[in-house]
Amino acid sequence: MQATIALLPGDGIGPEVTGAAERVLRAVADRFGHTFTLTSHLIGGAALHAGQPPLPDDTREACQAADAVLLGAVGDPAFDTGTSERRPETALLELRQVLGVFANLRPARVWPGLEDGGAFKSEFVTGADMLIVRELTGGIYYGEPRGVAADRQSAFNTMRYSRPEIERIAEVAFRSATERRGFVTSVDKANVLETSRLWREVVSEVSARYPDVKLEHQYVDSCALLLATNPKHFDVVLSGNLFGDILSDEAGAVVGSLGLLPSASIGGRGGLFEPVHGSAPPIAGRDIANPIGAIASAAMLLRHALGAGPEADAVERAIGGALTAGCRTADLVADGGATPLSGSAMAQAIVERVADSAAG
Ligand code: IPM
Ligand code: MN
Repeated sequence: MQATIALLPGDGIGPEVTGAAERVLRAVADRFGHTFTLTSHLIGGAALHAGQPPLPDDTREACQAADAVLLGAVGDPAFDTGTSERRPETALLELRQVLGVFANLRPARVWPGLEDGGAFKSEFVTGADMLIVRELTGGIYYGEPRGVAADRQSAFNTMRYSRPEIERIAEVAFRSATERRGFVTSVDKANVLETSRLWREVVSEVSARYPDVKLEHQYVDSCALLLATNPKHFDVVLSGNLFGDILSDEAGAVVGSLGLLPSASIGGRGGLFEPVHGSAPPIAGRDIANPIGAIASAAMLLRHALGAGPEADAVERAIGGALTAGCRTADLVADGGATPLSGSAMAQAIVERVADSAAG
């Protein structure tokens, strides 16, 4: 197979974790006899520091031409007070829209060996395995009108969802559920918001096409509580853009570390793959960030954008193997616990296992 992958390292720990994912992709290419052309482009704060807009034209064009895009993170405190046009995050929102990737898949499960790793009691989290299906190109992130009043005494955003937008993301959730445990939890705030009432109505209609999938509706506040108290309840969690953003960080805490979570943004051409964690400025450049979120995102890229299922399985097995063997980055080690591995040592442990993996 020949494929072109656009790498967008971005800000903070982005370059470290995409570097790790790149090494894994090269190991996959060697092991399975593929040719991957990897090109690197500026985005976010990195682009702003270079005197360019957050999403430079050549970056956008490279992403549109590539078979898939792998992004590290965007976000830089140097630009925290900027207007939208001068903020790193704007680049990511624009890129998602340009690529048309309306479906954001965020799998979160407790890896064997990490049951005791997080802040939650292991008997509650052991076996938790969910897929958050987050709508990614609509809702309050994109709704118009938006703005700040000229006197800066008020500001406003618009939460808006159309029927087709809800229907297509619900389809993704129900289809995913048929390949999992057949249970969809749809998240909304229908007791307060009109967008949520329409959401509930359309999701229920789509559900009628999937008689083998069970559907429940939950308000986002009680869903957040249940995610912390009984995460094993969930199979597929279907949500709008804002609620999915919040719940997926919470899911990171439940499975032991946000640094473990990958994501795939699909629905358009190719796809955009990125760890769920952000740029984490305080730990950037110290080689302590967990690269697993980015490496697992590369596995999702192989599976969803390149149709390379066995290769994706090999990468996920390599991650599991490294964790089972006791490899732990700092985020996975309790205070006073074992000395953690650096991010690059963790990446190396995974690369070696990919290189040694049996053919799929
Ligand atoms: C995420 C991030 C982004 C989002 C930011 C960086 C724009 O938090 O991917 O979860 O809110 O979607
Ligand atoms: Mn987020």
